[in-house]
Amino acid sequence: MKKIISLTVNGVSHEVAVEPRRTLLELIREDLGLTGTKKGCGIGDCGTCTVLLDGVATFSCLTLAIQADGCTVETVESLAENGQLNRLQQAFVDQGAIQCGYCTPGMLMTTTELLRRNPHPEESEIRRAISGNLCRCTGYQKIVEAIQTATEDSDE
Ligand code: FES
Ligand code: FES
Repeated sequence: MKKIISLTVNGVSHEVAVEPRRTLLELIREDLGLTGTKKGCGIGDCGTCTVLLDGVATFSCLTLAIQADGCTVETVESLAENGQLNRLQQAFVDQGAIQCGYCTPGMLMTTTELLRRNPHPEESEIRRAISGNLCRCTGYQKIVEAIQTATEDSDE
């Protein structure tokens, strides 16, 4: 039987009827049409489905939609500011940290959480933070450099 849940996604309030086993990932992509969040493995191994749930980086494929009842969700669509890529997104573009791009939404959300907690992380902290986000294209070096660049820019 469906249950009505209330949640705020990217600043917009929603009431949605969901089956008990529906995942937050399915809710975001299929009910709300926010397809920036990607499904990779679906079992908590790749991190490409990462969103922020009450500010905490969370695998939306492992989270039931009903667990988000009353919560605030941020997806990759929330990052752009006034239609412009934010500092972190632009750094990924400028540093060549995006190849196929499939991992990018999850990487950006994981990194967003990191930079809120620590605006100037050491390289080792960056690598630890993104260790749950798999990338099959870049070899990670460009991603780390992009995050470092965004950090340097924040000194301005
Ligand atoms: S799709 Fe969620 S961790 Fe891979
Ligand atoms: S850019 Fe292709 S998986 Fe990361």
